Amino acid sequence: MPLPALLQHALSIPAIGSPMFLVSFPPLVIAQCKAGVVGTFPHVNARSTEQLDQWLTLIEDELARYRADKPQAALAPHGVNLIVHRTNPRFEPDLAMVVKHRVPVVITCLGHPGKVVEAVHAYGGIVFCDVTSAAHARKSMDAGVDGLICVGSGAGGHASSQSAFSLVREIREFWSGCLILGGGINDGHQIRAAEALGADLVYMGTRFLATQESNAQDEFKQMVLDCNVSDLVYTDRLSGVHANFLKPSLDRFGIDVATLPPKAPDMSSLTDTSAKLWKDLWSAGQGIATIHDLPSVSELVDRLTAQYDSACRLGRSAAIRPAVTP
Ligand SMILES: Cc1cc2nc3c(=O)[nH]c(=O)nc-3n(C[C@H](O)[C@H](O)[C@H](O)COP(=O)(O)O)c2cc1C
Repeated sequence: MPLPALLQHALSIPAIGSPMFLVSFPPLVIAQCKAGVVGTFPHVNARSTEQLDQWLTLIEDELARYRADKPQAALAPHGVNLIVHRTNPRFEPDLAMVVKHRVPVVITCLGHPGKVVEAVHAYGGIVFCDVTSAAHARKSMDAGVDGLICVGSGAGGHASSQSAFSLVREIREFWSGCLILGGGINDGHQIRAAEALGADLVYMGTRFLATQESNAQDEFKQMVLDCNVSDLVYTDRLSGVHANFLKPSLDRFGIDVATLPPKAPDMSSLTDTSAKLWKDLWSAGQGIATIHDLPSVSELVDRLTAQYDSACRLGRSAAIRPAVTP
């Protein structure tokens, strides 16, 4: 299936480190790219357009230095996640900054990606669009995106209620372009399984949240290690859109979502770093079921690579009856 030329032979494993509000900062992005995984961050993690400019310069300089030192090593391109929502005042100036820096990979969410596609294609970058349903996927493909990111149930952050198994096959019925699958993907076996389902790349958030280089608070990382899937609350009462939250983080503030009134979708909570949501009320996906440590990104990617290679060597099931030659 079509992998954009920019990503061919550039990665250690077919994976994107997904953008996470208040978690994906330059140290995580740089470590992911150096390990051969596309490293991305939400543009609003930078507090201003000026800071976005500084962060992009820092990332470019670090990656260029690494390329010069290790010309043979896998070095993945970096990416920025843009919130394409009419209520986001940073959209226009930050898109201009993305264009100035010719950011190789741009991921859009929460709005029509048409304007971003036009601007990013003009300098040779690629645009992936985050979708949580087939209807949403159809609208985005009409805008000319280079890839669709389908995020199934159990994902960290805003998550669909549709199983990844169902969603990826539904979208593959009408989309032959690059397809990225996310939601609870933590190890190399799942990466290989995603390929078997028809995905070209995977989208991994929660697993990278629990690494040394992530910007999540230590208490947040520890909660990811301590919690089970039964500790997750899937609710639209906090942001107006369904997302998975760690219940112990809500308990600390005495919040019981069952008693909260419905809330209109509130995109400002994604752009206001002083908001309690995301900063104090922590999100994680069902991947927490198998996260038991806080490795460095490079240790994690080495492990994922070994698991992926081993999954690639799996043959057919022993349950299959051999063909009988007459
Ligand atoms: C703490 C946290 C913050 C997130 N913030 C964003 C965000 O700002 N923008 C976005 O597009 N997705 C965001 N996501 C969703 C991820 O990009 C991705 O869809 C998800 O992590 C994939 O599922 P997984 O966490 O099960 O691997 C966030 C996820 C988490 C866990």
